[in-house]
Amino acid sequence: MEVLFVCLGNICRSPTAEGVLRHKLREAGLAGQVEVSSAGTGEWHVGNPPDPRSQRAASVRGYDLSAQRAQQVSRADFARYDLILAMDHSNLRNLKALHPGQGKAELDLFLRRFDAEVDEVPDPYYEGEQGFERVLDLIERACDLLVIELKGRL
Ligand code: 4NP
Repeated sequence: MEVLFVCLGNICRSPTAEGVLRHKLREAGLAGQVEVSSAGTGEWHVGNPPDPRSQRAASVRGYDLSAQRAQQVSRADFARYDLILAMDHSNLRNLKALHPGQGKAELDLFLRRFDAEVDEVPDPYYEGEQGFERVLDLIERACDLLVIELKGRL
């Protein structure tokens, strides 16, 4: 099973989701059964580590994002991944526009599956520290539920 998180730059939200889910899968004993990755719809930050603000906020909660490097989502990803989860509506629209029309990937908004109140993880790039904390709050809660879903699908 392979899961891909997608945001715009792949330096804030989706790398955070990748790090959090990988951590939670390890805790659940599922690390060997689910591959997790992340990508951005944009190419500006390809090759860069996650934003220092994301790394710092994640690190305080016990997640190490330092080894991750940004990549851009590609058409081949629709054949490779089982589940592609977009952080916001704009990301989802961009993914649909890129979709080659075939491939096994199930495409959805990340929070639509797991949060009754909000369906987007808001872009924190131009926000202060609070924006990054909010991103982590939403992602941690949704990843707890995603682990349960993945368990049921293995
Ligand atoms: P992300 O945040 O999509 O969560 O990685 C952003 C990072 C960079 C930019 C926008 C959003 N940017 O415009 O460079």
